[in-house]
Amino acid sequence: MNGLTGLTDSSLKLILFGGKGGVGKTTCSVGTGLYLSEGLKTLLISTDPAHSLGDSLGQEIGDTVRQVKDITNLSALEISAEKALSKFKVVYESQIMKILGTSTYLDDEDIDSIFSLSIPGIDEVMGFKAIIDLINDAKFDKYIVDTAPTGHTLRLLTLPGLLDQWIKVMAKMRWKYRYTVETFAGEYNPDEGDDFILEMKKTVKRIEELLRDEKRCEFVVVTIPEEMAVLETERLINNLTKYGIAVKQLVINNVLEWNECDFCRERRKVQEKYINQIKKKFGNLQITNIPLQAQEVKGITALNNFKKLLF
Ligand SMILES: Nc1ncnc2c1ncn2[C@@H]1O[C@H](COP(=O)(O)OP(=O)(O)O)[C@@H](O)[C@H]1O
Ligand SMILES: [Mg+2]
Repeated sequence: MNGLTGLTDSSLKLILFGGKGGVGKTTCSVGTGLYLSEGLKTLLISTDPAHSLGDSLGQEIGDTVRQVKDITNLSALEISAEKALSKFKVVYESQIMKILGTSTYLDDEDIDSIFSLSIPGIDEVMGFKAIIDLINDAKFDKYIVDTAPTGHTLRLLTLPGLLDQWIKVMAKMRWKYRYTVETFAGEYNPDEGDDFILEMKKTVKRIEELLRDEKRCEFVVVTIPEEMAVLETERLINNLTKYGIAVKQLVINNVLEWNECDFCRERRKVQEKYINQIKKKFGNLQITNIPLQAQEVKGITALNNFKKLLF
């Protein structure tokens, strides 16, 4: 029963690891990357603003795709939402200005303030768009995402919806403009403003479709046998299910195996209580227990051992 399954299925492209802070998301992501890269071209991506792929692997990883040293077929990337946003602004500034500029009710000052007013979450949506673009490039067989702790990740999932509302406002402005032009000039030729709206609509749709396609995307939840973590796991799984994102398996990390001292026995008893709770609550999920290691799991050698526990 122990061990992650199904991740080598060829239709599965995007594997996300998520959970509470400190439970082992990064370690599981990298361990999975090492495993999958044995036969498949794999890209590890971090969307946690507190990136730690580099720390975990013991080598520098940055915001451009780079090959992981000594591991054939494994590359890594730490996405900067902030940089993705500046890129978005550079690429789309003139298009957005066009939409705002053709709207009847706005003067130049309004337009400047709208543009500088950051759309909530747009940076992260652009970060996600970067992932979608990478998957579309199809240079890799597998894309593993080491996500930020629960709250942040859940917010990210609601962003396409938010962005969609924002697009609708833009589209409405456009529609009024189009109507005016058609009324007075008789004919309307779509411009870069219309292209922008269309492209943003497509982006949101592509993100949502991918996340909700259980053949192409799977979210692996990582937890530890402690009360707070179990509560958070429940919240995470409920929300993921609500958004239509497939959760099929769960990792319970840091499971104590020793039984040799009073302290260990006591800790184990507490852990067993939560492990049983998890099994009861999430009986429909495949569960993988990972023992607590005597040392931190960092560097390729330790991570390769961890990989064997995961699979
Ligand atoms: N099974 C384990 N045994 C011992 N240490 C672990 C285990 N799993 C993870 N760790 C260590 O715990 C710390 C937190 O793990 P990490 O993967 O960074 O968590 P997260 O990404 O969820 O914040 C790291 O120092 C990691 O090396
Ligand atoms: Mg992490």
